[in-house]
Amino acid sequence: MTLFKRLIDWIDVRIGARQLAKEELVDYLLPANINFWYSMGSILLFIFVMQVVTGILLLIYYVPDADKAFRSVTFIMNDVPFGWLIRMCHAVGSNMMVLVLLLHMFSVLFMGSYKSPRELNWVTGFILLTLVQGISLTGYLLPWSQLSFWATTVATNSVSAIPAVGQYLVEFLRGGKLVGPPTLGRFFALHVAVIPLTIAAVVGLHLFLLERIGVSTPPFGLKETKNPWRPDGFRYEDHPGGIPFFPNYALQDLTSISIYLACFLGVVFFDPYLFFPKDAFLPANAFQTPAHIKPEWYFLANYQTLKIFPNEFIGLAVQGAAMTFLALLPFIDRGPEKHPLKRPVFMICAIGGILLWIGLGIWGHYS
Ligand code: HEM
Repeated sequence: MTLFKRLIDWIDVRIGARQLAKEELVDYLLPANINFWYSMGSILLFIFVMQVVTGILLLIYYVPDADKAFRSVTFIMNDVPFGWLIRMCHAVGSNMMVLVLLLHMFSVLFMGSYKSPRELNWVTGFILLTLVQGISLTGYLLPWSQLSFWATTVATNSVSAIPAVGQYLVEFLRGGKLVGPPTLGRFFALHVAVIPLTIAAVVGLHLFLLERIGVSTPPFGLKETKNPWRPDGFRYEDHPGGIPFFPNYALQDLTSISIYLACFLGVVFFDPYLFFPKDAFLPANAFQTPAHIKPEWYFLANYQTLKIFPNEFIGLAVQGAAMTFLALLPFIDRGPEKHPLKRPVFMICAIGGILLWIGLGIWGHYS
């Protein structure tokens, strides 16, 4: 113990670690009425770290070669000690990441935390949403199963609907006219290097903004406080009389992460193939199109939207418009009111939008 204390003292003399920890953790106050939903961001961070660790472990045996990829994944599942556990944690974790990301977004939406002065928190979050979609899409191809191959064929094909540059873009994404070995190479590079590093950098920026501006005050709860921010110069939103991040809220975060882990491991151990249709167990075959090829659950609404319009370009344009609207939301919805019940128009649009997304997804699943 004394050795540990001496080590801390040694570091402290050099970088002032104790002062930093005090300022950033113990004296970092959160609103007294903070709630469980504010833990979603920490759960997301935890999932991202889990994905990086399990991903690195998978890389030890995975071979990014179209002739060997499927066999290497089968080897991980059947022969590598605990390989199945690592792979299931990675595959289930990717779905959980999207689910928790949506919950984080919904809580930010309903509590109005995206409003001024947190527009940049929202915009960096929106970039993270698209990056997480990108990392899921590229990861889907790596096992080189029938599902991987045909889902990627359908997804990349949709880009061809863009006038003038569409066909060029499809070939750029695929590295050829059809999905094949060059597609695996570029998706692998994106999945294991480009996108994770970009996510890490944007998460850093997201948290930097949070630190600079302070956590938003929830619009409801035991001791409701008004947002003191005024647009007359930068002002850090402190929370006098609030609760310290460490140890108080860190314990709440830990509780939320434990609840998440219980749900996550429940799926990994009791229903590991929940997110695996049967085509995921067959090796890719470019000459045999499966009867029903569907994207992952969170892309089903996009897939169905492309199908309901007579022209694929209109389907893409509608989705582009919806995403642009979402990205710019804090600049469109500028009223100061944050309480959901005092924003009826917003509530109707938000709940309507979520129901539409779920409805299109269910339709896409059964169509
Ligand atoms: C990899 C994905 C993400 C990670 C790791 C992450 C992490 C976090 C963390 C740790 C916080 C602070 C605590 C909290 O309010 O939960 C936070 C706050 C915030 N996030 Fe995210 N986030 C992610 C994605 C998103 C997305 C997709 C959006 C919305 C489009 C978003 C918007 C915000 C906003 C507006 C805040 C400020 C909330 C406040 O001050 O009350 N984030 N994020």
